[in-house]
Amino acid sequence: MYFGTDYHPEHWVYPYAGSPEHPESRWERDAQLMVGAGMNVVRMGEFVWGLCEPEEGKYNFDWLKRCMDVMQMANIKVVLGTPTAAPPLWLAKKYPEILPIDEQGLTLHEGTRHACCLNNATFWEYSRKIVRALAGAVGSHPQLIAWQIDNGIGGHTTEYSFNPESKNDWHAWLKAKYGTIERLNELMGTRFWSQTVTDWDQVPMPMRAPTVHNPALLLDWMRFSSDTIAAYIRMQTDLLHELTPNIPVTTNLRALSRHFDHFDVAEILDFVGVDSYATVKSKSSENACEIDMLRSLKKCNVRTPDGDEGFWVIEQKAGHVNWQDVNSLVRPGVVRLFTYQLLSRGASGVLYFFWRQPRIGSEKFYGGVLTHDGRGDNRVYREISQIGDEIKLLAPALKGSKVVAETCILVSHANEWTLKMEMQPNHHFKQREHLMLFYTALHDRNIPVDFARPTDDLSKYKLVIAPSLHLLAGGEADLLKLYVHNGGTLVSTFNTGLVDEHHIAPDTGFPGALTDLFGLEIAEFDPLPPGEENHLTFKGAFPTSHLHPARLWCDLIEPKECQVLATYAKDFYAGKPALTMNNFGNGKAIYIGTMSHQYFYYDLVVWLRQLCNLFPLLKVPDTVEVSMRQKEDRKIYFLLNHQNSPIRIQFYKPMHDLLTGSMFQGNYDLPPHGVLVLDEQSHTPKT
Ligand code: GLA
Repeated sequence: MYFGTDYHPEHWVYPYAGSPEHPESRWERDAQLMVGAGMNVVRMGEFVWGLCEPEEGKYNFDWLKRCMDVMQMANIKVVLGTPTAAPPLWLAKKYPEILPIDEQGLTLHEGTRHACCLNNATFWEYSRKIVRALAGAVGSHPQLIAWQIDNGIGGHTTEYSFNPESKNDWHAWLKAKYGTIERLNELMGTRFWSQTVTDWDQVPMPMRAPTVHNPALLLDWMRFSSDTIAAYIRMQTDLLHELTPNIPVTTNLRALSRHFDHFDVAEILDFVGVDSYATVKSKSSENACEIDMLRSLKKCNVRTPDGDEGFWVIEQKAGHVNWQDVNSLVRPGVVRLFTYQLLSRGASGVLYFFWRQPRIGSEKFYGGVLTHDGRGDNRVYREISQIGDEIKLLAPALKGSKVVAETCILVSHANEWTLKMEMQPNHHFKQREHLMLFYTALHDRNIPVDFARPTDDLSKYKLVIAPSLHLLAGGEADLLKLYVHNGGTLVSTFNTGLVDEHHIAPDTGFPGALTDLFGLEIAEFDPLPPGEENHLTFKGAFPTSHLHPARLWCDLIEPKECQVLATYAKDFYAGKPALTMNNFGNGKAIYIGTMSHQYFYYDLVVWLRQLCNLFPLLKVPDTVEVSMRQKEDRKIYFLLNHQNSPIRIQFYKPMHDLLTGSMFQGNYDLPPHGVLVLDEQSHTPKT
């Protein structure tokens, strides 16, 4: 298993470290300290273009190679970043057209990272040259085990640029998609506000305008910009595969938060790398949700450096960040806790960002494994060294194990982009908040969850939850019907099927093409302001632990074939269905017409657990997070205490503690921020 750090050797040469006689002498000390912390991998090079090509065509990779040699002496492997996230200043000076233009038509100038337009052919050409030169210089170095393409692509809101080249590519993209101008006008609905075009050149980029752009045009613009990013990543991946076929390729992604299709990008890569900001968030279920999303991006054809199928955490924050108003220290034990949370949900490599707090540049007050002094006697270094020791113990058991989920939540980028547009029925509705209500209920009841696109094969899941697929493509609707018809259970909600893939509303009532699946039709819905609530009245066997409100949105459901499970309690639609279930083929389609509070979703999960035969992983107090990795019959449980106080857990069966080697049963007090890694097999205690 790989465990390491993000190393920036370029920060640690004379005069910032080393000596005039031995400017790079610090590197050896760094490598020793890394080994001391149990590390066996570094990522480096992601911002070094200007250092490796200080003048056009004059390459200097010798220092990078020397650093890789130092790592070799210490037996530390290397993931190399292609340095395109930080184009050199000479490139922007020579070709100012590579600089991105924003939606107001203003150029974003050089002098920082990500100052480039990904539609610019010159930028592509120079990217190819530096990648080719880098791979030529160090691609056969024995320490190299993976490439990371670029860094944080799309970061600093650079997913879109409005350059002349972007415009040309945009028009070509539209032509390829629609074929004829007539079709574009028809499917984009351009006759609204008389925006019809007679030539491709007339189609605007959605730059700053007096009011909102046509949502169909905006949606295509997001798709086009996403395709641009995917194409750029594909270009570098293909090149690296050609030059170094045995070295797998990744890049560092965030949990669906950037404006490009993360699933598309993951398909291109050999394995998924992620940035984890766990330490800056407080809710364990939010962190867990992000990890599960990232794990789910690539479920097959995974090729990692050690053959494991998991994802890598290319940047786990080792300490505090520098971009909040107040950047508090990460409390003792918390980095360890979050490392285990990442491992428990499928990570097979973890690297901390970053090795040492730099003495230079804009991130000098960002926490690192080492503090500025580099001595290695600081708290975080000690904590991470402990994790390093533990990982060595756990690695053989974790090898080849993975997370298995029978429940899945559907997400689609096109849907998220649509829901973020202006002119929504209710601006207080937030898709991520809605999704989190379901996720938190499953997470807190220890039911493993995958994420998938509506177009993915869902047949292995017993339960699929599809919160607010406002945009539902015709093909997606068909696949959901097929899933239920074949015996699956689908839960959908209000704000589903309001538009199709062309952003055209149905003329058959909502939820668009799924009315027959749910056996109902919705002609009207009532968005509610925050603080104004309706209530649910339940019928039959649905468990109700609380009075459940109906908030933000109430669908006025006309039942056709469906069974009614709950109705609204008041207003002119009192008595109308709010929660329904329909038998469809061999499966069940459940529809929730409103949004409630968290307790409703806990009750829903209790009910669904029975309906779908889902089992929680372990019986432990609600405040303990449990997840599991599985290898054939062996199940490895991770129990995490995210609280500041101990939690007593009762084990009814003997359990094997993989960190101490001991067996135990009965009461166990999990300390604050404590971690247990257990299985049920009896093992000889370690000597
Ligand atoms: C991303 C980048 C890093 C660093 C951090 C700061 O993760 O990849 O280079 O800038 O953000 O949060």
